[in-house]
Order: sequence, then C-alpha cells, then structure tokens
Amino acid sequence: MQNYLIRQEQKKDYRVVEELVRDAFWNVYRPGCQEHYVLHCFRGAKDYVPELALVMEVGGKIIGQIMFVRAELELEDGKTLPIMTFGPISIATQYKRQGYGLALLNFALTKAKEMGVGAVAMAGNIDFYGKAGFVPAKNLGIHYADDWDADYFLAKELQTGFLDGVKGVYHDPKGYFVCVNDTDGFAKYEASFPYKEKLKLPGQLFGE
Ligand SMILES: CC(C)(COP(=O)(O)OP(=O)(O)OC[C@H]1O[C@@H](n2cnc3c(N)ncnc32)[C@H](O)[C@@H]1OP(=O)(O)O)[C@@H](O)C(=O)NCCC(=O)NCCS
Repeated sequence: MQNYLIRQEQKKDYRVVEELVRDAFWNVYRPGCQEHYVLHCFRGAKDYVPELALVMEVGGKIIGQIMFVRAELELEDGKTLPIMTFGPISIATQYKRQGYGLALLNFALTKAKEMGVGAVAMAGNIDFYGKAGFVPAKNLGIHYADDWDADYFLAKELQTGFLDGVKGVYHDPKGYFVCVNDTDGFAKYEASFPYKEKLKLPGQLFGE
C-alpha cells in the first residue's frame, strides 16, 4: 500500500467521486450500476452526513470514497434508536484488494465513533466487512425489514453496550434509494458519462 490521505469530500470532488463510484461498481452487482446516482441524488438530503463523506487520495488522486446516512432502528416498544448506515464505498479498480478499502472503512468507523454514533448497519459481504468487526445484524438483535433473517445484513456496535438488550428492525432510510426509481432522471444522468458496456456476469445479485 502506498501512502494515502483521507479527507472530507468537497464540492469540487463531486464529479470525480461519481466517476470513481461508477467505475468501481460497474457490472459488479448488476449489468451497469446505479450507485453513483444514489450518491449524486443523496448529497444535501437531511439524513446525509457530510462529516462522514470521505475521500481517499493516493499521490494527489482520489482513489476511494465512502458516504454515511442517518438511520434508525424501530424497537419493540415503539421507540426508535438512531444509528447510521453507509454506502456506497468504493475503491478504484486498479487499487482494489490492496488494503485501501479496509483502511478507509476503519478510518470512517473511528470517526463515526468519535462523533458518538452508537452502531452502524448495512447489507454487505461479510468477507470484507467482517475484517472491520461486522457480524450478521440478527446476532445483535437487529433484523432487516426487507429480508428478516438475511445473513448479509450486517451490523457493528461502535459504543460498547449500545445494542445491549436491543431488539430492533431496520428500514432503509426514506429517500436513500428513491432516485433509483427515477428512470428518466437516471437515464439523463447516465448519458453524461462516457459509454461503458453493460454485461450480465456470473455472481451478479440483480438483473438489469
Ligand atoms: C468492496 C471494496 C470497497 C473493498 O475494497 P478493497 O480495497 O478492494 O478491499 P481490501 O483490499 O481492503 O480488502 C481487505 C480484505 O477484505 C476481503 N475482501 C475485500 N474485497 C472482497 C471481495 N470482493 N470479496 C471477498 N472478500 C473481499 C479480503 O479478505 C481482503 O483481504 P485479501 O485481499 O488479503 O484477501 C472494493 O473492492 C470496491 O470498491 N468494490 C466495488 C464496489 C463495492 O462492492 N462496494 C461495496 C458494496 S457493499
């Protein structure tokens, strides 16, 4: 791994970061990808956390990014517990599997902890997130509303004891994925990037 710098994303970085997200996610989970549009739409939303919108630089070039979103758990007694979720997280293709992603994630989680965030939860691959201390959320008493017993829905406690005795349901924050359903808006936005071929590949989770 080369020397890297992690800093808060600035307005001037927006397009470069969206290009990075598009390149990193392209054809990974579906033919093409939409994660760059999620990021594009969600900046400025009330649940977006600017302090945790981070970029990673190597040699002055942005090679990684992560963004966080405020979320909550719905508890059995009807109360709610504030937590956070995050994503997209991306590392530029030529820098993948060299430790940068884990370094960026751990940095962001430390910052979130310092900000007082009690826990984070998200859907992801345990092979990667497990290295940062994530476990299946259901083991911590948290279920994913969209897929109750999902093994891929993960969580990590940041403040010791925050989830003690908690039984909660996680709903994706309103608005997080809303823009994905805006097919016209997405088509127009996508057309502003250089053409890339969409491919159906083995291992993708979703169709087109
Ligand atoms: C996922 C991503 C952010 C990981 O960043 P990275 O820099 O490539 O990962 P790291 O090198 O820090 O990985 C650390 C360890 O996590 C595990 N890991 C990382 N990516 C993995 C993958 N795709 N599949 C399985 N295990 C993985 C490995 O154990 C890895 O160590 P190893 O390379 O010595 O085996 C990056 O690959 C990426 O941008 N992928 C495309 C976008 C994406 O999928 N984002 C996450 C959506 S939930």
